[in-house]
Amino acid sequence: MPKIVSIHSFRPGTGKSQLTANIATILAAAGQRVAIIDSDVHSPSIQWLFGLPEGAITHSLNDFLWGKCGIESTAVNLNPTVRHPLKGQVYLVPFATRNSTIDYDISLLSDSFELLINTLRLDVLLIDTQPGVQFAALPSIAFSDIQVLVLQLREQDLQGTGVVIDISEQLGISEMVLIVNQIPEHYNLREVQQKIEQIYQRPVLAALPYDELLADYNQASLLLERTSSNIFVVEHPDHPISLLLTNVAATLTA
Ligand SMILES: Nc1ncnc2c1ncn2[C@@H]1O[C@H](COP(=O)(O)OP(=O)(O)OP(=O)(O)O)[C@@H](O)[C@H]1O
Ligand SMILES: [Mg+2]
Repeated sequence: MPKIVSIHSFRPGTGKSQLTANIATILAAAGQRVAIIDSDVHSPSIQWLFGLPEGAITHSLNDFLWGKCGIESTAVNLNPTVRHPLKGQVYLVPFATRNSTIDYDISLLSDSFELLINTLRLDVLLIDTQPGVQFAALPSIAFSDIQVLVLQLREQDLQGTGVVIDISEQLGISEMVLIVNQIPEHYNLREVQQKIEQIYQRPVLAALPYDELLADYNQASLLLERTSSNIFVVEHPDHPISLLLTNVAATLTA
């Protein structure tokens, strides 16, 4: 059964887009057919991370919801941007292009996910959601099979994640899992994992350290005019974070 997985967080900047792009690439490298819906209209990180030129995006899911294009024209093939050949397939589906008005019939959204899955013959649909609990974020979460909540060890995240879990429960999400990201160096990762599991009574799929190499990735991608991807797991396949993310990808699709 194809899975819809939303990657969400209470606060911006926890690492959702990095994690989404890397998990998608791991799955596609393993032969799966994956699409990423990028919900961020203002800073399209997924596009940046894969080194996709601005002009490569012509249509969005929002255009489809307004009846302006077919579902197949919302998907951009990302395989050619990745430096190593992928056994499977990874697509980007932008939720909206810059300056578009997002005001659609929510009941159509769930159908559009199904249509994407069927048309692109997807195994996994990953949704890089908008952070927080504002209205724009909720429909994507409500229609997902698994919600991945990304948090850092910050007071605001610790409180906010509890709020998100409550709301997601009310939306009827059956499966919620956590990833703790950007954990400062002096923490014991295993202890963090156990502590966070205790607090929220949800599985922590990974406790990932703060890593300078990964921090630099976005900076470099913003500064350089790139024409190919800058996906961490492709560049550093044996790095501990890449190995942990491989486990996350396997668990999410098990
Ligand atoms: N484990 C990590 N160690 C160091 N830096 C990281 C780590 N994970 C992510 N980052 C960096 O944190 C920054 C924010 O990451 P990212 O853009 O993926 O967050 P986001 O949750 O998608 O943000 P937004 O909510 O604004 O879309 C980026 O510069 C990214 O490279
Ligand atoms: Mg993002």
